[in-house]
Amino acid sequence: MSAVILDGKALGLRIEAHLAERVSALKDSGVEPHLAVVLAGDDPASHVYVRNKQRACERCGIKSTRIDLPNDVSQEDLMQVVANLNSDDSVHGILVQSPTPDGTDELAITEAIDPSKDVDGFHPTNLGRLVMGQTDGLLPCTPAGVMKMIEDAAIDLSGKKAVVIGRSRIVGMPLALLLAQKGIDATVTIAHSRTQDIAEICRSADLVVAAIGRPATVQADWIKPGATVIDVGINRVADDSRESGSRLAGDVDPAVKEVAGHMTPVPGGVGPMTISMLMSNTVRAAEMRLA
Ligand code: GUN
Repeated sequence: MSAVILDGKALGLRIEAHLAERVSALKDSGVEPHLAVVLAGDDPASHVYVRNKQRACERCGIKSTRIDLPNDVSQEDLMQVVANLNSDDSVHGILVQSPTPDGTDELAITEAIDPSKDVDGFHPTNLGRLVMGQTDGLLPCTPAGVMKMIEDAAIDLSGKKAVVIGRSRIVGMPLALLLAQKGIDATVTIAHSRTQDIAEICRSADLVVAAIGRPATVQADWIKPGATVIDVGINRVADDSRESGSRLAGDVDPAVKEVAGHMTPVPGGVGPMTISMLMSNTVRAAEMRLA
């Protein structure tokens, strides 16, 4: 049996179509939702991600402003850019693309962003609200996108076992909280690079989320037949059969789709959902200002 493939690209476009209606309503009230994206340095992957975010803004009718800074930007200058965006009333969302250049303090930059404009959902205030069970605010985009995909596929996790592989503050930790929250009610294990018997732990799970950052790590014999497998990995791997010489690969081995009940593809799974959730947070930030 082959897994049902969860199409994040199609779901993301459906969500964005609804967002475009909310953007129109905001504009009718005299508010133009506006996302400011700060891109420091010349990381090629970051340039691709930022371009994709700006295209999504266009699809939703959200204004986007991109602020390019050199690779040798100082911490002071970056903090000043954030301070200016914080005090600019025309800006509803601020995103500083990660990674920021060597020598800059990304955590300090995250903490400097006004929490009400923190559309990445990484500020301690927003992560703290999530810990407190308040899930109606600005949630981190990748975990929120994973939850939307699970909801859209009508996968019931109540009382079920979920394993999240990866403990980052951006994906693994917040996603574990969302899965365990009241109303979702999964029993969550957070696995990581030091976890022993990871294959065995995954084999007992009804949901496995891979947020490892290493290609094809999760193997078919780690997965219980019929389980849901969500692949958060975006790894560039060599591929001589392509003109570019490379392709994107997830953290999950493609053979898993012969065992899983549901599975997300890479590309076209969690990636586009992350961007749609960024759009959703930007619209929400603009609506919260009006409220
Ligand atoms: N770099 C890769 N993904 C992300 C993201 O979701 N937000 C930010 N700020 N930087 C990223």
